[in-house]
Amino acid sequence: MDLSGKQLLLGLTGGIACYKSAELTRLLTQAGATVQITMTEAATKFITPVTMQALSGRPVYISQFDARIDNNMPHIDLSRCKDAIVIAPASADFIAKLATGLCDDLLSMLSVARDCPLLVVPAMNCQMWQNPATQRNVAQLRADDIIVLGPDTGLQACGEIGNGRMLEPKAVYEAIIALFQPKKLVGQRILITAGATFEPIDPVRGITNRSSGKMGFALARAAAQAGARVHLIAGLVGLATPWSVTRENVQTAQQMYDAVMAAIAGIDIFIGVAAVTDWRVAQVSDHKLKKAAGQPPPPLHFVENPDILASVAALPTPPYCVGFAAESGELGINGEAKRRRKNVPLLIGNLGPKTFGKDGNEVILFDEAGSTPLPRADKQSLARTLVDEIAQRVLGNFLYKLG
Ligand code: CTP
Repeated sequence: MDLSGKQLLLGLTGGIACYKSAELTRLLTQAGATVQITMTEAATKFITPVTMQALSGRPVYISQFDARIDNNMPHIDLSRCKDAIVIAPASADFIAKLATGLCDDLLSMLSVARDCPLLVVPAMNCQMWQNPATQRNVAQLRADDIIVLGPDTGLQACGEIGNGRMLEPKAVYEAIIALFQPKKLVGQRILITAGATFEPIDPVRGITNRSSGKMGFALARAAAQAGARVHLIAGLVGLATPWSVTRENVQTAQQMYDAVMAAIAGIDIFIGVAAVTDWRVAQVSDHKLKKAAGQPPPPLHFVENPDILASVAALPTPPYCVGFAAESGELGINGEAKRRRKNVPLLIGNLGPKTFGKDGNEVILFDEAGSTPLPRADKQSLARTLVDEIAQRVLGNFLYKLG
């Protein structure tokens, strides 16, 4: 589990977004973390300590004078031996307190008394967020090495639309996991393609394949957690964008090629995970093809799509290129042959039809040193291992020369 053994303190301040912290608590505890909840008085108006106690499985603390703590110093007792303190939601008032070091309740006291990283997840009305005083305070938090997550933009509980919504619980959860991952790819800019492309036949029909995009998205998440700046170019993928990753959606192979070429300048590592449709229909009909009694089915003529990975690898100064190959058999032979054909330093092969849409995967790495099978693992754990493997090769000044 991603947060096994981690000791977290989750602080709630007054705001309607407190309901999101209930879900956040579930995600954190399910990932193996011990979550100690502390609330301000105002937070208890929005969600009850009973709810938070039930979800965290521990007593909730609100006051700095609490006889349940042996030495009656909860601000010290609760802030020690923590791996991180997370304030979610963090109100404008609480952010102002943190910026000035005010300690007038338990949560602000223990935040100032902490000896661990502090993450703040703002949630407030968009005008409150834009207010110069709030912006000054947030800048001060960043200057003090406090990690500020969000806020999000969108419809707010007050009915106004703007910046100030608390990040969704899953995004906060992912950011917390990222905090604990080794930062092996800091400073690296990574471009990843993922998912299936789609080639239209007519306005309602087309050709695609069974790739879900899970492996590409898991890699994007793992790379971002390792400190890289990651941009995803996704085909037909119904998955949420991983935290801190930027994303662009495309449909056809040609669109994916164009998007990759437009984004490639300055990229250090290119990972082609997309299942790109090899051919497209030569003449896409502009109207729906109709059946006619006694007529044969319409013939389809294909032309080949550009090979995105091989084109990136053939650039004058290519980034470090990683390919994925889903084979239906003979992986050992086909994988190395494909790596050489595409002229890439690393190709990750799997038996695609067995893994499409599944959470687990089993791969073999092909590089100039030979082939290395990796043990079967769920796609997210495997993605972390692959990020390690890529980081070792890229940062170990791996000089690639084929033949
Ligand atoms: N790829 C690509 N552009 C294409 C086809 C494939 O960028 N038009 C990339 C994939 O993203 C993947 C790698 O090339 O990283 C291997 O994809 P695969 O479909 O296995 O290779 P193909 O060249 O299409 O070979 P095959 O004939 O086996 O389908």
